[in-house]
Amino acid sequence: MKQWLQDAVFYEIYPQSFYDTNGDGIGDLPGILAKLDYIKDLGCNALWINPCFDSPFKDAGYDVRDYKKIAPRYGTNEDAAALFRAAHEKGIHVLLDLVPGHTSEEHPWFQASCKAEHNEYSGRYVWTDHCFAGGDGMPFIGGETERNGTYILNFFKCQPALNYGYGKIHEPWQKPTDDPDCRATVEAIKDVMRFWLDMGCDGFRVDMASSLVKNDTRHKKYTCAIWREIAAMLHEEYPQAAMISEWNGPRMSLKNGFDMDFMLNHTDNGYYWLMRAYDGTMDSDPHNIGKAYFCKDSGTGIDKFLDDWLPSYKATHKDGLYCLITCNHDTIRPSAGLTTDELRLAYAMIFTMPGAPFLYYGDEIGMRYQKLPTKEGGYFRTGSRTPMQWAPGKNLGFSDAAPEDLYLPVDPAPDAPTVAGQQADPNSLWHTVKALLAFRHAHRDLDSDAPFKVLFAPKAKGDYRPFAWRRGALVCAVNPAGAQAEVPLKLEEGTRVLFAIGQATVRDGTLVLGAQSFAILG
Ligand code: NOJ
Repeated sequence: MKQWLQDAVFYEIYPQSFYDTNGDGIGDLPGILAKLDYIKDLGCNALWINPCFDSPFKDAGYDVRDYKKIAPRYGTNEDAAALFRAAHEKGIHVLLDLVPGHTSEEHPWFQASCKAEHNEYSGRYVWTDHCFAGGDGMPFIGGETERNGTYILNFFKCQPALNYGYGKIHEPWQKPTDDPDCRATVEAIKDVMRFWLDMGCDGFRVDMASSLVKNDTRHKKYTCAIWREIAAMLHEEYPQAAMISEWNGPRMSLKNGFDMDFMLNHTDNGYYWLMRAYDGTMDSDPHNIGKAYFCKDSGTGIDKFLDDWLPSYKATHKDGLYCLITCNHDTIRPSAGLTTDELRLAYAMIFTMPGAPFLYYGDEIGMRYQKLPTKEGGYFRTGSRTPMQWAPGKNLGFSDAAPEDLYLPVDPAPDAPTVAGQQADPNSLWHTVKALLAFRHAHRDLDSDAPFKVLFAPKAKGDYRPFAWRRGALVCAVNPAGAQAEVPLKLEEGTRVLFAIGQATVRDGTLVLGAQSFAILG
C-alpha cells in the first residue's frame, strides 16, 4: 500500500460551494487553497475535489468538455498547480475526479465522432451502425447527427459513452476490447492522468469505474483488465499516485489495481443501515427516519452493517482499503436523519474503522440538507451541495456576492451551524470531529490498514445493541442506544479509557458504556 494512505483522512470538496475568493458567487480553486490550513487543523490531510474541468455543467462537471483545462469559473491550470504545491507544503495530498466512462456531448472528440466522414474519433464513442438501430439494452440517442448511427449513453443524455469495447459481442457494431479504437480510448485516459500527475496531483477518484466495457461479465473481467493496466502504468511512472473507485465492489476494484473503494449508500446495504435507512433516500423528501443503527431508538443491531461489510473487508483487506464516508455529493446529508449526538457516534465509528475515512465538506458542523430545485443535474442531490457555512453574517462567509447571485442559496435557518460558531463552542460537533481525528493520527493502531477484529457484536435485544472492535492494541466500542450497556470484553488488567464520548468506565474487565456513548480503550 502507498505509505501516505496509512494515515490519510480525506476531505471531499464540491468546488462550486466551498469558498468564493473572487465574489462571483461560486467557489474556486484559490478558495480551496485559502482554506488548506482550516482543513489541516481539522485533521484531514488529503482532498478529493469533485470535477473541476471545463464543462457545460449539465451534470455538475461530470460532463467534461476539456479534460486538460480547469473550468474558468474555478480558475486556471496555474491555480491548480499552485493548489497542489501549497497542499504538498502542508502535507496534504490532492485527488482529482477522473470521469473515464463518458464525456460531455460538447467534447471535441464527440463532436468529431458525430461527423459523417470517418476520422480519428469515429470509434472513440459507442456508435451503432444505423440511424434506426437500438442500443442492445443501453440507452441511446438517434436522429441528432449527420452520422448514420445512434450513440450509447453512460448516464444522462449529455454523457455519451466512451468506447472501451464489449465483453459479449452480439452486434456488428460492438467491438472487442483489443480493437484499435478501444485501445486508443484507454491511451487517451492514461494521457489525461499523466497530464494532471505531471502537474502535481496525487491521484484520482474514479467516477463509475465499473462502467467502462459494455456487456462485460458479472465479474467485470474486461473492465478489471483495463484497471490493472492503468494501475501498472501508475506503479511504473507515478508510484505514489493513488486511485479510489466509485464501485462499491471491493472484490473487483481492490484486486484489480485500485488502492481504495467506497462503501456507498445502496438501499438495504450495510452502510445504508448504519447511517440512513430511511425511505426516500433517492428523492428530496426522506421519511420514516429513525431506523438506522446510530438512531437512539431504532432497535437496529450492528449485524445489519456487519453482515454486508465484514465479508467484503475480510476478502479484500490485504489488497486495499474499503472506505467509509460521512456522505458525498450524491447522498442526502447524514444530519437529515441523525441528531448531533447521533452524528458524533457515527463519525466516531467511521473514523476508527479500517480504511481511509472520507469527510464530506460541512459534515463536520452537521450542515443540513436543503430542499431545493435542481441545479446542474443535481435533482435531489442539490440539497447536499449548498455553500459551506463559515461564519455568521453575509452568505455565511462563503462569498461576497449578492445573495441572489450565489451558485446555491446558503442555509437560511437562523440557527444554521457555522465553523466559527462551532469553533467557539467546546461541546460542538466540530470539536468532536477534531478530537477524533487528532486521536486517530496519534495512534498507528488506527492506521487505515492496521489490524481489525470484531470483539462483540450481538444481535439487538431491545435497546441492548453495543458494538466493540479491536484495532491493533486498542479496543473501540460504541453504544448508540438510550440505555446503559455492559460490554463483556475480558479486558486485560490496567486497561484504561483513552478517549470517550459520553460515559465509559471499566469495571472488572467489563466495559460499561452509558447511553449514547463511545470509547477507545488501551
Ligand atoms: C457518479 C457521480 O458521483 C455523480 O455525481 C454523477 O452524476 C455520475 N457518476 C455520472 O458521472
